[in-house]
Amino acid sequence: MCGIVGFIGNQGAKEILLKGLEKLEYRGYDSAGIALSVQGDVQVFKEKGRIATLRESIPADVDGEIGIGHTRWATHGVPNKRNAHPHSSHGGRFTLVHNGVIENDMLLKQEYFAGVEFVSDTDTEVIVQLVEYFVSKGLEVEEAFRSALKELKGSYALALMDNESPDVVFVAKNKSPLLVGAGDNFNVIASDAMAMLQVTNQFIELMDKEMVLVSSQEIVIKNLQGEVVERAPYTAELDASDIEKGTYPHFMLKEIDEQPFVIRNIIQKYQDENDNIMLEEGIRNAIKEADRLYIIACGTSYHAGLVGKQFLETFAKIPVEVHVASEFSYNMPLLTEKPLFIFISQSGETADSRAVLVQVKELGYPAITLTNAPGSTLSREADYTLLLHAGPEIAVASTKAYTAQIAVLAILAVDSARAKGLHIPFDLTKELGIVANAMEVLCDSKEEMENIAKEFLATTRNCFFIGRGIDYYVCLEGALKLKEISYIQAEGFAGGELKHGTIALIEQGTPVIALATQEHVNLSIRGNVKEVVARGANPCVISLKGLEMEGDRFVLPSVLEAFSPLVSVIPLQLISYYAALHRDCDVDKPRNLAKSVTVE
Ligand code: F6R
Repeated sequence: MCGIVGFIGNQGAKEILLKGLEKLEYRGYDSAGIALSVQGDVQVFKEKGRIATLRESIPADVDGEIGIGHTRWATHGVPNKRNAHPHSSHGGRFTLVHNGVIENDMLLKQEYFAGVEFVSDTDTEVIVQLVEYFVSKGLEVEEAFRSALKELKGSYALALMDNESPDVVFVAKNKSPLLVGAGDNFNVIASDAMAMLQVTNQFIELMDKEMVLVSSQEIVIKNLQGEVVERAPYTAELDASDIEKGTYPHFMLKEIDEQPFVIRNIIQKYQDENDNIMLEEGIRNAIKEADRLYIIACGTSYHAGLVGKQFLETFAKIPVEVHVASEFSYNMPLLTEKPLFIFISQSGETADSRAVLVQVKELGYPAITLTNAPGSTLSREADYTLLLHAGPEIAVASTKAYTAQIAVLAILAVDSARAKGLHIPFDLTKELGIVANAMEVLCDSKEEMENIAKEFLATTRNCFFIGRGIDYYVCLEGALKLKEISYIQAEGFAGGELKHGTIALIEQGTPVIALATQEHVNLSIRGNVKEVVARGANPCVISLKGLEMEGDRFVLPSVLEAFSPLVSVIPLQLISYYAALHRDCDVDKPRNLAKSVTVE
């Protein structure tokens, strides 16, 4: 969470920084700020709220040649102007932006600044004060910066400006993502390439515990021992149009609509020259050698993992456990002799998942990462990567990444089954093609989904989603989508579990959305719907063609039953979207959330 940018050039820094921050708003949007070097004098502007508020607060005639910026998702200290970045040192010489969490900030304050009052409540401020402290002890700025870094425990992506050497920005990274971008007579820094695609597509990845001296002409990477590290830039293969909304009112709607394309893209990307869907040898072997798979993920990616477990166990006959990353770290289950870990993460940067990956690598176990972000931390640190090929997902609520994760997990499961010589009674390419066509039909049913949202969710305070088996997993995702963007209290339940407690919550008119896509439990879920209706619920049954019954509110086009999550989730995404819209919620940037959760 939080995003940082920097521009080190000769002019026009303000607009480049503000535009960059707008692209990073998905990482946090409760306050923002920039520092500009205006003819050698560093000026700081910061505001509570969105980048738009910050933009309005900066006088039109102010601009600089060099600057740094920050968009915040609060961890230490409430979101207000005082806690917003950049933070300045007591003497005013240094100015700093930070993404990450400094775990030993209190200890450092006690050790170096006992009795000294800090301006903010953040963990960040101690870093900038430390740099000034080391300079006051006679160190050169670079050495002082390095000394401060050596004191820090936790995660950081940092950019520091020095009033007395205003033509260079000092940068450092540990655990939090950070890139340096190379331009012609200027250089940039950013938490994500998207922020600086406006000026360059040449980026250099930074590794943990590296620092960089960035001027308009030079990028000098060093390790914490002060040794220079050489690294060539890569070309970011992002199309600037991928990160624009185009004619869509919201990124979320655009991304929902992109799902048929994403599935077709995945088929193509995983096909070999003979049009067979095939995975690389290393992944096949890793799966063959494992006696159990452990899927680790958070939120929506965790929900995709649950569907993946079903695929891997049904098709490839491999036992699978699915764990929420933040729990696994502290409560590791008994592992089997030959575990293989599969990390699922859209961003590839989620700190909870990364913490598990670090533990797993320390234990010497192999790991695969499924991610939408090539070059991300989770991708770099795992042994193998399976890319989602979904294109940038900007809306905070994940949609196309979820279906892409499920499609790639289906490929993994079918490929693993084939590698074991097991028979798969369907043609994967054909079935995923049918799914993509069905998705298109669903994306064309927006009016109907808007009607459902208005009818069931316009004024309700809560909503339940029920399903059995694989439908239950989709219900968990449907409920998460609804609660995160519309703030309606929503829960997903296994149909059979209702009567063991939850049914007490059903009142007259309570909306209950039920999924019925699985033949073997069709009658049972219908029974559960009757139970809630008998207690006053307002049911909205969404069934798969061939399993529909009288009174169903919507019938999904026919797809292979196992692949129904890829289609049944789309009405749930759209219903959530319209519910949020009609409740005047900020669809793409829901309160309290950030897209990339880079703190544990
Ligand atoms: C919900 C959502 C989150 C993410 C979760 C994990 O719509 O997007 O629940 O799924 O924060 O993020 P990644 O997949 O980037 O690890």
